[in-house]
Amino acid sequence: MTRFEHGIPLDESSDRAASGVSRLPRSAGSSALERDPGMPSSTWRLRSDAWEYLRFAVKRLALGGEDAEALASDSEIHRNLRALETMEMYWAGFGQRYVRGIGELLEAGDYRIALDRIGRVVNRLRGDTVPDEPRDEHLDEQERAELAADADPRPRFEVLVVDETTPADRDAMRSEALRLRGAADAFVYEFVVVPSADDAVAAVLTNPNILACVVRPGFSDRTRQRLSRDLVETIRLARSQVSTGHTSERSSLASVQRVLGLADTLAAIRPELDLYLMAGAHIEDLAGALTRRFRRVFRREDQLELHLSLLRRVSHLYDTPFFSAIQDHARRPVGVFHALPIARGGSVVNSKWIRDLVDFYGLNLLLAETSATSGGLDSLLAPTGAIKKAQDLAARAFGAKHSFFVTNGTSTANKIVHQALVGPGDVVLVDRNCHKSHHHAMMLTGGRAAYLEAYPLNDFAFYGAVPLDRIKQLLLDYRAAGRLDEVRMVTLTNCTFDGIVYDPERVMAECLAIKPDLVFLWDEAWFAFAAFHPVTRRRTAMASAKNLEERLRTSAHAAAHRAQQQRLYDADGTPAADEVWLEERLIPSPDARIRVYATHSTHKTLTALRQGSMIHVYDQDWVREAEEPFHEAFMTHTSTSPNYQILASLDLGRRQVELEGFNLVQRQLDLATSLSQSIARHPLLRRTYRVLTANELIPAGHRETRRPMPLRDGLASMWQAWAADEFVIDPSRVTVEITRTGVDGDTFKHEHLMNRYGIQVNKTSRNTVLFMTNIGTTRSAIAYLIEVLVKLAERFEEDRAQLDPELAQAALAAEAPMPPLPDFSAFAPGYDAPGLPDGDVRTAFFRGQQRRHIEHVPPGELRERVDRGEQPVSAGFVTPYPPGFPVLVPGQIITAEVLDFMAVLDTREIHGYDPRRGYRVLRAE
Ligand SMILES: Cc1ncc(COP(=O)(O)O)c(C=O)c1O
Repeated sequence: MTRFEHGIPLDESSDRAASGVSRLPRSAGSSALERDPGMPSSTWRLRSDAWEYLRFAVKRLALGGEDAEALASDSEIHRNLRALETMEMYWAGFGQRYVRGIGELLEAGDYRIALDRIGRVVNRLRGDTVPDEPRDEHLDEQERAELAADADPRPRFEVLVVDETTPADRDAMRSEALRLRGAADAFVYEFVVVPSADDAVAAVLTNPNILACVVRPGFSDRTRQRLSRDLVETIRLARSQVSTGHTSERSSLASVQRVLGLADTLAAIRPELDLYLMAGAHIEDLAGALTRRFRRVFRREDQLELHLSLLRRVSHLYDTPFFSAIQDHARRPVGVFHALPIARGGSVVNSKWIRDLVDFYGLNLLLAETSATSGGLDSLLAPTGAIKKAQDLAARAFGAKHSFFVTNGTSTANKIVHQALVGPGDVVLVDRNCHKSHHHAMMLTGGRAAYLEAYPLNDFAFYGAVPLDRIKQLLLDYRAAGRLDEVRMVTLTNCTFDGIVYDPERVMAECLAIKPDLVFLWDEAWFAFAAFHPVTRRRTAMASAKNLEERLRTSAHAAAHRAQQQRLYDADGTPAADEVWLEERLIPSPDARIRVYATHSTHKTLTALRQGSMIHVYDQDWVREAEEPFHEAFMTHTSTSPNYQILASLDLGRRQVELEGFNLVQRQLDLATSLSQSIARHPLLRRTYRVLTANELIPAGHRETRRPMPLRDGLASMWQAWAADEFVIDPSRVTVEITRTGVDGDTFKHEHLMNRYGIQVNKTSRNTVLFMTNIGTTRSAIAYLIEVLVKLAERFEEDRAQLDPELAQAALAAEAPMPPLPDFSAFAPGYDAPGLPDGDVRTAFFRGQQRRHIEHVPPGELRERVDRGEQPVSAGFVTPYPPGFPVLVPGQIITAEVLDFMAVLDTREIHGYDPRRGYRVLRAE
């Protein structure tokens, strides 16, 4: 039987048994790595660990210390080399031969030379450009040239070449690339050459440095490597999502189909990849058939053209028009005869009192500050130049048709979208737990909010997400009442603060089957990063809109729709019972309109200064229905003095994700998973903390797969869950239940994590803490967090041991049980709608703004009124922060449940409620 490590076979009979590597002595034991399934999601970590370990071990050998003999028989060296032999096949620079060569050197006892070679790789991985011990007496000319190339400080990327090649071909290709490298090139690249479609998929899944791919039709289909089960399964899933048609192998179209199939697969995994086709014969015919998939088709001898195209494309990704304009502006001598005395340091550098502003932030901040919109800069309110270009690039990166920068957070982005799309009297189905900006938007637009309830997670005092059945049922209710035409928009938060992720494509498809012109606003404040990973991307609003649009165009979809209509309507056009509509997975009409908006707090999950946000649009009716109102709304909410540094940071954040987004997100997900795993495996941590998994956070009825933490089992398992389940958990967030620590979430956050150890977390509930990783999270940060959790756990155990058991029991009994989270009660008469849940927030709000219409009522007295059967009506929003959604909105009936919940809430910040004065209640007419 073959055992796997790092995605690598450990099978003795492997065809590498004859290599120098396998002849190294082996010993029993060291089973820890063998159990590692070698997931593609953690290859980056395993690869770097393997090289670091080799450097450590071979250095010992080279120094000839007393443990040299023990190390020589260390099977760990052997296994790491075996692992790297397969891994390096998918990375440029060194490759399998290099690893094999190190094995041979070790076999021959040439430890010093082996160490130099290993050192070269480690330096490269660490990003060091200066070799630590430049001993080059044993290097040949080629190696010396490569070492010099390693020291090249220019940004480096990798180009995948898919073709069956000989070692001589590959050497020739690499030397040609080195020969073409010019001093004026802004970037350098290297080739990764793989023989088969499977290997190409493995490479783009595991190696994020690949930014371009050259397909040559000579590639074979299957890999000859024996990869880990997870990698094999992920490759299968990735390849099966693309249909390659049914052309027979012998047909003349077969090779075109193979090439197209591979191109589609690679583009579906990494849409940012630049694809080229390099062909010999019939290139003109191929160009016609294939150019939609490929940027260009080349003949083999056009190496120089390919070289230039590769560099040009990366320079397009690198281009940051607005950041460049700001830099230019900062370098120009400019006289300021308008506002902004801070511009160019005017009011600062000559002041003796505020010079520390320059000392701290640097002069560039002031040189970059301006209120000008001319001289290469642009106006955010009417962009035609650098800002417009930067926004168009953002649209490309996020898969949108149009993107807009927002300098006041998603709070503002949401209001812009609402105002653009919703008018007075329009009904909006809106998750009651969505961010308060949506509720404020309802008040501003005069739209009628019909609140959707998410499923509650009462044990942890927060909400999940809104089941699709509830959304469908509500739409059916509006249809039954003859008011479906009033329903304009559906607004949901994806993912939720706690990491629960919808399947937007499914939600939109089924809703559109009931009302084909619905507009969707997906609040992706926490989900901007998701666009840069092949698994998470499919659940972003923009990717879902695109997929849905493509699906609706197919004849298979039209046929399925026609067939379903027969089941949904009887012969005279009467709709079947609601149960039928709820049971069926509804198929929208091919004529349904795709109108999708997403808002991103770019600053929350990607590189951007605070408040830097974006709106992304995928709207088939943009020009006819939305463009003008959108611009009016944008101007309503956007400052006429938007912050240029925020805009420049959005431009740079976009450049970063296009060039290294996959790398960063893949690491983030992997590190978060390793955090969960550490907590689950460590005996003390396991006793004290519990990581909440999909089993706890998603009711079983909303999942088809069953793994509690799919990514822990591998990328394939995550892929399957994210393809099938109604809800999934964003693995970058780790919710930890802390009941057994004996302290509540707020105390844990402030007193223990922040005050003692300087660790910031964003959100807690009474008995949970949410640890969020992001693209800046490092392995050291995770290690520090684990260390702190262990120290705290020891402390909590000690505290518990000191407690008198009877007192502890009594304290536990005295603790008030957390009441369930209150559902939205109802709008009061006068603001409500008979038989349906929508209500008029706006009228109630403005009435509540007039002192004569309201009274302040203390909680005790209000509770008595409720107990007497009265129905007091809230005059305003009451929003505990966190979680940040209103427990009361204007016009809502105040119930006992709401008051009980508020009475035990230990949140420090409650917007709209002053405990000295009580609740703001509308007086009866
Ligand atoms: C779901 C959701 N939407 C919108 C926002 C507002 O985003 P911003 O802070 O960028 O204004 C938040 C903030 O926490 C949020 O959680």
